[in-house]
Amino acid sequence: MSTDSYFLVDTALFLLYSLARKVIVLLKDNVLCILEQHKGDVVTGGRLASELGVSRNAIWKTIRLLQDDGNDIVSVPNKGYRLLGTNDTLFEKFIRDGLMTSFIGQDMRILPSVHSTNQYLKELDADTVDSGFVLIADEQTGGRGRRGRVFVSRKGEGVYFSILLKLGRAQQDIRLLTVCAAVAVSRAIEDVCGIRADIKWVNDVFCDGKKVCGILTEAVVSGELQELSTVIVGIGINTGMAPPEFSDIATSVQEAAGVCGLRNRLIAGVLNQFEAVYLDYTERGNGAGVIEYYRSRLFIIGRQVLVSDVNSSYVATVQGVDDMGALIVMDDGGVVRFVSSGEIKLKW
Ligand code: BTN
Repeated sequence: MSTDSYFLVDTALFLLYSLARKVIVLLKDNVLCILEQHKGDVVTGGRLASELGVSRNAIWKTIRLLQDDGNDIVSVPNKGYRLLGTNDTLFEKFIRDGLMTSFIGQDMRILPSVHSTNQYLKELDADTVDSGFVLIADEQTGGRGRRGRVFVSRKGEGVYFSILLKLGRAQQDIRLLTVCAAVAVSRAIEDVCGIRADIKWVNDVFCDGKKVCGILTEAVVSGELQELSTVIVGIGINTGMAPPEFSDIATSVQEAAGVCGLRNRLIAGVLNQFEAVYLDYTERGNGAGVIEYYRSRLFIIGRQVLVSDVNSSYVATVQGVDDMGALIVMDDGGVVRFVSSGEIKLKW
């Protein structure tokens, strides 16, 4: 065979291979969609085959691939296949189906495992993605929390994602961004899981008095003027089992609400809520609406806390938050202080 013929055969094989891969992915998506529509019920192989125009054997092979991906599908002998109600795999189509945003999450990527979604986005060339790009991971091997702490991010037990926002000159004031994220998570948990989700300043979300979500906002500064070019909002919500080593202080939506299988809906819910409050704040100048909701979920008012800021630690009683999200406390000497950075502890 001549070199030209080899090249043609090679190209044809490559095209066939790419096409076959696409067909398999499409088939997997479609089978999962049908099973999801009948979650908990048995769907016959014959019905799947005729709806999708393929053989029963192709359906059987596709089911095996979906099971290998971690989907809870059981084969019921002589009947068909059942997707268990507990199934909670991340699936881009299900997230997109619930998305009602104009830019947040319109570009998204799901990865099985990363070190940290925040770190990944910090290292990404921001020019290669749009503002609102979202990176989601099934697990993080080095999930990061505030003040250099570790955020335990076990496979399948939570939703771990980061939103990349590109800022213009007019958007350099980002003090309320973290507040926006906490409000978005609280609203989404209430909406999707049907339980109350309270907020502990500055950005922890609590259910039943225990932490269910942590948020880490990080800014990237660039250029001679040292302007904020990019902000990364990282959100981690425990959905399955909360980390057992923190069982006295942490919970999950499954433990608090008794619901599971909601990871895709929860991610879409947070992204929808986040875009709404972010645009309210940055474009419509309605920071007040965001703060009003934040105050309504702030469960620490009147509580004694240990405040730690850059310079000192002191005990104080929480009075509320001001319009820029700073915590208002009264120390033991009766002095009112405004805490805009730092941390508080409820028990010490
Ligand atoms: C905290 O509770 O101190 C903040 C935790 C933030 C965790 C999220 S999970 C997704 C994103 N990636 C990280 O490494 N951290 C944030």
